[in-house]
Amino acid sequence: MRMRFTAAVITVSDKGARGERADGSGDLLESLLAGFGADRVARAIVPDQRDRITATLLAFCDQGISLIITNGGTGLGPRDVTPEATGDVIERAAPGFTEAIRARSLAITPRAMLSRAVAGARGRTLIINFPGSPRACEESFAVIEPALQHALELLAGEGRECGRP
Ligand code: MTE
Repeated sequence: MRMRFTAAVITVSDKGARGERADGSGDLLESLLAGFGADRVARAIVPDQRDRITATLLAFCDQGISLIITNGGTGLGPRDVTPEATGDVIERAAPGFTEAIRARSLAITPRAMLSRAVAGARGRTLIINFPGSPRACEESFAVIEPALQHALELLAGEGRECGRP
C-alpha cells in the first residue's frame, strides 16, 4: 500500500509570476503527483529570484510537506538560480535523483546536460529540481517515479527494508 504524503509544486518563472504565461508545467506536475497518490498538492509561482525561491521552499518545508518539486530556472541563463536557492535550504544533498534525470534525459536530448538541477532533504521534506518545460517535467517525473515511494518512506522514518523483492 502506498504511504500517505503531501506535495508542493513551485514553478520558477519571471513570466509566470507576472501572469504572462500559463503554468502548464505546474498543472502537469500537480496531476502527476495526484496520480501518484499525493493527498494534496500545494502550488506556487515565483520569479527567478534566489530569496523568493528560498522563502517559498522554507514555507513549504515548515508546513511539513513531504515532497517539493520545483520546475524552471535550472539552466545557464543569467537569471537561472533555482539550484542555488535550493542549496540554501537543503541540509543533505541527494544527487542521485538529478544524476538519474540528466543521464536518462541525455538519451532524449543533448540539451539535458544544460540543467544544473539539484535535489536534497531538509528535515523530512525532499526537494527535487526539474527543468521548466512541460516535456522535461514529464520526462523527469518518469525517471524518479520508480524510486519515489521508497525515498518518501525513508524520509518519513519508516524503517522499511531496502532489500528488493
Ligand atoms: N531534460 C529533459 N528531460 N527534457 C528536456 O527537454 N531541456 C533541457 C534541460 N533538460 C530538457 C531537459 C534544456 S533545453 C535546458 S536549457 C535545461 O534543461 C534547463 O531548463 P530550465 O532552465 O527550464 O530549468
